[in-house]
Amino acid sequence: MLSHEKNALLTQCGPAAPMGRFMRSFWIPAMTAAQVPSADEPPVRLTLLSERLVVFRDTQGRVGVMEENCPHRGASLFFGRNEEGGLRCVYHGWKFDVEGNCLEMPAEPATSRMCQNVKTRAYPARIAGALLWIYMGDAQTVPDLPAFGFIGQPDDHLYASRWHQECNYAQAMEGELDSAHVSFLHQELNKTNPDPQALTGKYFQEDTAPLWKILPNGAGFMACNGRSVDGDKRYWRLNQFLLPFFTMIPPRPGDAQLVRMWVPMTDERSWVICVSWRPDGPLNEKELTAWRNGENSHRKVVPGTTLPVERLDNDYLIDRQEQKTVSFTGIKGIRAQDAMVTETAGPIADRSREHLGSSDVAVVAMRRALMEGATQCADSGQPHPAAANAWLYSVRAVQAVLPGDQSLEAADEFLAPARATPPSPTSTH
Ligand code: FES
Ligand SMILES: [Fe+2]
Repeated sequence: MLSHEKNALLTQCGPAAPMGRFMRSFWIPAMTAAQVPSADEPPVRLTLLSERLVVFRDTQGRVGVMEENCPHRGASLFFGRNEEGGLRCVYHGWKFDVEGNCLEMPAEPATSRMCQNVKTRAYPARIAGALLWIYMGDAQTVPDLPAFGFIGQPDDHLYASRWHQECNYAQAMEGELDSAHVSFLHQELNKTNPDPQALTGKYFQEDTAPLWKILPNGAGFMACNGRSVDGDKRYWRLNQFLLPFFTMIPPRPGDAQLVRMWVPMTDERSWVICVSWRPDGPLNEKELTAWRNGENSHRKVVPGTTLPVERLDNDYLIDRQEQKTVSFTGIKGIRAQDAMVTETAGPIADRSREHLGSSDVAVVAMRRALMEGATQCADSGQPHPAAANAWLYSVRAVQAVLPGDQSLEAADEFLAPARATPPSPTSTH
């Protein structure tokens, strides 16, 4: 349970809110690289942390991310012309480069120096790991990009997608950290997946009340949940949470790695950005086809949009007959099932009315880490240490079946890939 004040602290991410300022000390993933327009193509709109922006690429291919409204009299630059080296407002022809500098003011006399004194708000942007990243914080302290394993991988090792969700980012992310729901929400009624570690496999039915441990990882924590399986064994899943909104759930052996990002669009809507990747080779056609169809780790959207097919305003296309015979929910797609339970709590859930149990341990830890981070950032005026230590993000989510009496903390081999590697003293990383 959270008071109304704490709920506001957790969920409000505009420029003046403590959580909003905290998040702006990190690089923020905004869209897939494929969604960024090509050089000189028309700009696209982007709402991020309650700011309305436009994204374009200039003639040289540099990416520009700037405030949507023209600094002259506020017309939308979405309708602007992307011309030689900059974006031109169609109202009076003011033109801006990717850094927000005003290049031309053709409605002013040739002798006017006004152009040199006007700048629009523009943010540093980078393309890495199949994503566009934006830094919206203090220009004096631009950190390194977080050292996720997928950054720097060849293009054919990566697949990224983005869709939107009709609720606050924290609420959407809670669904990812709460492993206990898998035994219910994603259950199939008419069959059991032969792979016991699949979300619809038998391990999730054998023990529906996992044991929880929270192990710090430097930028957040590992949400470790262990189910009693096969008599005397324990099936451990170590989900990663990394400030401010990154999660990883463990892949099954042989499956691609996965990082998900729960980015505030506004306080009542979120971007869900998902990167699947392989460290050791290209993705295969079978998995790519499934993801492009919005299956498994990715979500089915209306082609060419970020609008999910199964969504709040069509009751997620629930089939009540299938709910009796095929699946626990009658809703197709694991991602749509997750969205249904988080979105239907309302755009911003009233956490003063909830009743948390022991299965909510990771949810509580996540809220606490975020609220402490935001408060610390507001009190000190400094970026959070996680933002300044990119290497902390070089972790993986892992899973394994261990002997029931094995101490998790002592399972060094199992934990090794879940821990970040500090840079060597000679590294400039
Ligand atoms: S409003 Fe953009 S140039 Fe006038
Ligand atoms: Fe789920």
